[in-house]
Amino acid sequence: MSELLKIEHLVKYYGNRSSLTKALNDISFSVEKGEFTAIMGASGSGKTTLLNCISTIDRPTAGQIYIDGICTSDLKRNALADFRRDRLGFIFQDFNLLDTLTAFDNIALALQIQKCDPKKIRGKVEQAADRLGIREVLDKYPYQMSGGQKQRTAAARAVITGPSIILADEPTGALDSRNSRTLLESLRALNEEEHATILMVTHDSFAASYASRVLFMKDGEIFNELRRGKEERRAFFDSIMDVVSLMGGDLNYAV
Ligand SMILES: Nc1ncnc2c1ncn2[C@@H]1O[C@H](COP(=O)(O)OP(=O)(O)OP(=O)(O)O)[C@@H](O)[C@H]1O
Ligand SMILES: [Mg+2]
Repeated sequence: MSELLKIEHLVKYYGNRSSLTKALNDISFSVEKGEFTAIMGASGSGKTTLLNCISTIDRPTAGQIYIDGICTSDLKRNALADFRRDRLGFIFQDFNLLDTLTAFDNIALALQIQKCDPKKIRGKVEQAADRLGIREVLDKYPYQMSGGQKQRTAAARAVITGPSIILADEPTGALDSRNSRTLLESLRALNEEEHATILMVTHDSFAASYASRVLFMKDGEIFNELRRGKEERRAFFDSIMDVVSLMGGDLNYAV
């Protein structure tokens, strides 16, 4: 395995001297190619800030982020846009689909932006749709789809360009438990069968139990880490719950 994401001494402050929030306080960790990592922590612990820095949406105050060996803070505006398009896949809590496009066109758009050969687009979209179990909704518009179908469409859009890493912020946050499970199983299959590297932020122990590794954040710092190893998902869930209760049980958890 090789190091895909490397974070060194990441610091992010918000505000000014009179009201300063230390959202990230000296965070360092690495993610290997093919890992499925979850980041857990209570509300306000810095999860979204961390993900936004990694996804180049936000700039850190100090520290470095390397993706595929490229230091993201060295990239200028145009290079940054290309970098995001070619190397990152995003899944958001609220789906972020374009309402005026069908599921097919939402997914295809990611390929069109990448200037993919138009003859190859249909085949690629259908393959991704089959993988995520949304073949039957490809002609529907987002308002005609369930939350779960929308999120699986967003996941298809995120993976279709073959990104180096998929970044997901609370991807099950707006889903009921059945749809959460389907999405998480899809993410796990993408990880296990296609070796997709996934970094998922969640406050839900059930969602985190699908990952192979969980990092726990508190007050802008990483204070613990669990690896699944050969444990079954249910046993891993119990191990995660143990840490969550150590943290004061101040996370929302389901199941
Ligand atoms: N744009 C901003 N300006 C000022 N402070 C911010 C900003 N964004 C986040 N913060 C603060 O930084 C800290 C971390 O916020 P962040 O959104 O990263 O937390 P989180 O772990 O994602 O929480 P949640 O589970 O509620 O989504 C919080 O104290 C928050 O109030
Ligand atoms: Mg958040």
